[in-house]
Amino acid sequence: MTGTQLDDFVVPGPGPSDSVKWHLSRAHHPDMDPFWVADMDFRAPEPVLSALRSRTEAAVFGCSFVPDSLYEAYSSWTARRYGFSPPVDHLWLPGVMAGVNAAVASYSQPGDGIIIQPPVYFPFAETVERLGRTIVENTLVRTDGRYTMNLDELEKRASAGAKVLLLCSPHNPVGRVWDENELQATADICAHHNVVLVADEIHADLIVSGRRFVPAASLETSGLKLVTLVSATKTFNIPGLPGAFAYSRDRSLLDGLAKGLSGCGGGIPNVMTLAGTSAAWQEGDAWLDAVISYLKTNEAVVRDRFDHLPVTIEPLEGTYLLWMDCSRIDSNDLRLQRRLRDEARAWLIQGSRFGAAGAGFLRMNIATSRDRLDAACGRIARVLETET
Ligand SMILES: Cc1ncc(COP(=O)(O)O)c(C=O)c1O
Repeated sequence: MTGTQLDDFVVPGPGPSDSVKWHLSRAHHPDMDPFWVADMDFRAPEPVLSALRSRTEAAVFGCSFVPDSLYEAYSSWTARRYGFSPPVDHLWLPGVMAGVNAAVASYSQPGDGIIIQPPVYFPFAETVERLGRTIVENTLVRTDGRYTMNLDELEKRASAGAKVLLLCSPHNPVGRVWDENELQATADICAHHNVVLVADEIHADLIVSGRRFVPAASLETSGLKLVTLVSATKTFNIPGLPGAFAYSRDRSLLDGLAKGLSGCGGGIPNVMTLAGTSAAWQEGDAWLDAVISYLKTNEAVVRDRFDHLPVTIEPLEGTYLLWMDCSRIDSNDLRLQRRLRDEARAWLIQGSRFGAAGAGFLRMNIATSRDRLDAACGRIARVLETET
């Protein structure tokens, strides 16, 4: 894509009326701009739209099945994007969180410890609690302006009998793309203490920093029980076409997931998801490259707007979610989030939503029209200036 084509995916106006983030934001105030829910204000790739049109033309929407060609499309995507061939054994899921639910349900018993690494995608903790397991927090550490996993503490928690580690890779909300050494150490700890490693790699393709994404399954770790959860929804902005794959070298782990899902419904895959996802993995490269380039400039716009303020924006290695330390302005992130919502008409998420370790931070989704982002950052900066 070149020239004017580069950003022709940007939707300049508010999103469709059935968009959660737009609907709830505009219901709150007609001028509210949403930067909270992690979806993009971007049109899906043209090959996806075309596949959906063709599927609609077929006009019959009977019970469907997941064709082998869908996983082949995924495998050829990962081979092209990061030179990786996933294991052959796989399982289709209604979504990534359905996989996380089923994993916790089938790899542990009520009361067992499940390790999460906050600040982290909050449905992880909600799932563990809802299933009556015990949340074992291994809080990320922030040194020299960068988050890392606390591997010493991880070892202690794993050796204390935890059953599962929910790994978010890349990590929402802190934007880290874990490097090979960190992942290898994590995998070794899990293997050594017989902890099942559940790698949520939904953000795998959104690498905005030029860093290399390392799939957990590319590591050589004997004895590791690993399940990876992937999806096209985040990458191609199609979360309204939900669906995901789990894959593993250990068939019994996939069987466990299938058992965990049984009785929940969702056994018939959505035909539109199948059509759109297949096209995305087959032909979505140029669109994604253009989106990543657009996101990089958006990141620069925000940094520029907040440059004069005592706000520290974490390096955005992956995802399109900026993680901003605003504690020098107000350590009460919920109060600050509400002020920005009410005075700047910009709806971000308070960091403490991702666990106590997120206190003092705000998360901002920058996958939106640059003009909208720039204008909202101007309004946000004016509110923050009054605090400093
Ligand atoms: C880390 C992570 N996992 C899972 C999901 C949701 O996946 P799904 O809608 O397929 O359940 C999200 C959505 O933002 C996410 O950030």
